[in-house]
Formats: sequence, C-alpha cells, structure tokens
Amino acid sequence: MSNRADVLSVEAGDPTRVTVIQITDSHLLQDANGVVLGVPTREALRQVLSSIRQDYPHLDLIIHTGDIAEDAHPDSYRHLDVLVRELSAPVVCIPGNHDDRKAMSDGLVSGTVHINRSARVGNWLIVALDTLVPNAEYGRLSDLELRRLAADLSSHTARPVLVFLHHPPVRIGSEWMDTMGLRDAQRLLDTVDARAQVRALAWGHNHQVFDGRRGGMRLLAAPATCFQFTPGCRQMELDELAPGYRVFTLYQDGEFDTKVVRVPDAWFPAHPGSAQQ
Ligand SMILES: [Fe+2]
Repeated sequence: MSNRADVLSVEAGDPTRVTVIQITDSHLLQDANGVVLGVPTREALRQVLSSIRQDYPHLDLIIHTGDIAEDAHPDSYRHLDVLVRELSAPVVCIPGNHDDRKAMSDGLVSGTVHINRSARVGNWLIVALDTLVPNAEYGRLSDLELRRLAADLSSHTARPVLVFLHHPPVRIGSEWMDTMGLRDAQRLLDTVDARAQVRALAWGHNHQVFDGRRGGMRLLAAPATCFQFTPGCRQMELDELAPGYRVFTLYQDGEFDTKVVRVPDAWFPAHPGSAQQ
C-alpha cells in the first residue's frame, strides 16, 4: 500500500483532554441506497456521524477500523469521503476483510481521510495497522506492518499509545467469529506486551462490544455503524441493538476513559439473508 506516509500530526483542541472516536464496519455499497442484511448502510453511517457531530463538536480524531465498504468499489469509499467532510476532525482509516486497498486509494481522494497512517495527537500516539489478507475473512499482520509498529513505538517512547486494527487479536467467545480473527496474533501481543506505553488494543470486525484486559492493557471492540451481531454465539446471529461508536478521552498522564455510544436514529431492522442490492 503506497499511501502510507510519516506519522500524521494532529493539533488537539485541548491537549489535556483529547477526544478520539472509533467508528467501524460501515459496509457501504456503490449504490447509495443499497442495503446489506436489510440495513441501508450509507444512511446508518450518516446518522451515526450526525450524532457524533452533535455530541462531540470538538473531537480531535476519528478512526475507521475497516470494512468501510461491503463491495470494495471506489464509489463506496467516496460515500465515506463525502460524509466525513461535515466533521471538523481528520479521519484515519484502515482496511477490513471486505475492503480492497486499491479501491480505497481510488475512492478516498479528498485528503480528509488518511489511509493507514499513525497519528500524534496531544501527548498520545495513535497507531493504525493494516491486517487485510485479500480474499480471506481472517487477518494477518505482515512483517512490514509489525516493523512499522515497532518503529512507531521506538520513535515515541515517551507517548502513551492506542493501537487500532480491524481483526481481533484475542478470542471474543463467539465460535464463528473466533475462526476469523488475527492469525499469528502472538507476534502482535509479544510486541505490545513488551511496551508498557501501549494502553489499549482496539478493533472492529466483531459488530459487537468487547471490553477485556491483558495486563495493564485494555482490549476493546466497538459496535458497527450498521447491523450488530449477538455476543457469545456459535453461529452468526443478528442483534437488535442500535449501531454506535466508541469514544476515547485521553489524558496527559497516560490514563484514558472509554465508552460506547449507541445511536437509535441509525437503527434499521436487519434480516439474515436479505438481498444486498
Ligand atoms: Fe464487518
């Protein structure tokens, strides 16, 4: 992927209290009115972003943790490019298993959305990792991405760090989901375990909330901006919960708060097996 550049420098509105919002799994389609599992995904994302704009007008950074598009068409990415222009903050995104790196580059052309870039904001470093394996549901961290993570951490040893990726690096207790997590996750865990500066790993992919711990590190998943999956299932089961997003409030001393916000206005009834067009 060629878009990667140096670490993005984001000027925080209030460096003592930085707001980072994670959105994920928007599953957009080329057709702006298209539906996935019965849900009009572009409209659901629009409602989620509208809620963010209202509730967090001074946010500092948004990160989209993948499955931006369902159909990997450049036009699907353009929908994101257009929708986020109404927000006042820069956006970083990484691909999920449904995404296509070239279509992402072709569709995200406005400069508002940065692909696969880490960011400095306030006292913190936000690392965004690409775990996409083309034509696979599971993910993997390439040697290149692992080296980039290690280099980012080594270059910013004094900064507390949040690491974002699409695929879960731990089992979440849903049998069907746990077959498509991050392969070779131990390589990632070994790297971050050795660095007390890493305060959390956060991901998408699960379409449900997860909140765990590993030593001093939080392990967090966010709800999708479209349909939700029920936790603890052997097979896919749609959940009735509203779409949402995760908010991180980052303090200068390395502590942070996080919470999930649900957006009832973005809820549409999901149906298994619904046509995707
Ligand atoms: Fe997804």
